[in-house]
Amino acid sequence: MKTPSPPAVVAEGLAFSYASGGGLTRADLTLEGGATAAVEGPSGSGKSTLLALLGLILSPAEGSLHITGTDTEALDVAERDLLRRRSIGIVLQDLGLLPFLNAWENVAAAFGPRLARHRGEARALLGDLGMEDLADSRVTELSGGQRQRIAVARAAVKQPALILADEPTSGLDPRTANSVMDALRACAERGAAVLLVTHDATVAVTCDQRHVLDGGVLSAARRQNAREEKGLG
Ligand SMILES: Nc1ncnc2c1ncn2[C@@H]1O[C@H](COP(=O)(O)OP(=O)(O)O)[C@@H](O)[C@H]1O
Ligand SMILES: [Mg+2]
Repeated sequence: MKTPSPPAVVAEGLAFSYASGGGLTRADLTLEGGATAAVEGPSGSGKSTLLALLGLILSPAEGSLHITGTDTEALDVAERDLLRRRSIGIVLQDLGLLPFLNAWENVAAAFGPRLARHRGEARALLGDLGMEDLADSRVTELSGGQRQRIAVARAAVKQPALILADEPTSGLDPRTANSVMDALRACAERGAAVLLVTHDATVAVTCDQRHVLDGGVLSAARRQNAREEKGLG
């Protein structure tokens, strides 16, 4: 009998403070593979800090964090790095695409420097995400939305259990934002848990889970009828 896989994320009472005082006061969250979750909050509310904690970039001062069933507190630095490389794909706010590589090479770079070895996987994923035609483009020649989708593909190509995205639709027009969300949803359909932070409610409403960060405290968003929220109901 197949045992069900543990949730991608189980966070309980996560807290972190910067020396200057800001940070995250409390976050509780469970996210299963195949689901999308949005964390909404204004600038400075702790969204990027939460992503850095879930991405094993920062270590929490308090609370517990299990990633794919592994208790992260018990890990040494090398084990944390390994868990991050194996299980987590991150779309940072400034993307960090390499300008001297084309789109598929940027995606393949998620595996390390031997790009040609991962050409097939990178190109196949770009095809699955509807970006076949961009594969050979230089990233410097792509639009903001196209670059954002390439960064999503790079985060997803190793098939991580968890994909984290920091404001992936900020600065994009609604149609382009939709195409980025389609790419993230496709990653969830392939089995990843996808968590994105945003200050855009129209993006958050399309996700399976909705949370709000306010003054460093994460809570469930009041359940709204999506049709009502879009003004259709
Ligand atoms: N590296 C840092 N050093 C000190 N304070 C920081 C640092 N990064 C963020 N902060 C502070 O922590 C709080 C939360 O920041 P952040 O997580 O970046 O919020 P958000 O992503 O929602 O804008 C803010 O008050 C911010 O000024
Ligand atoms: Mg931020």
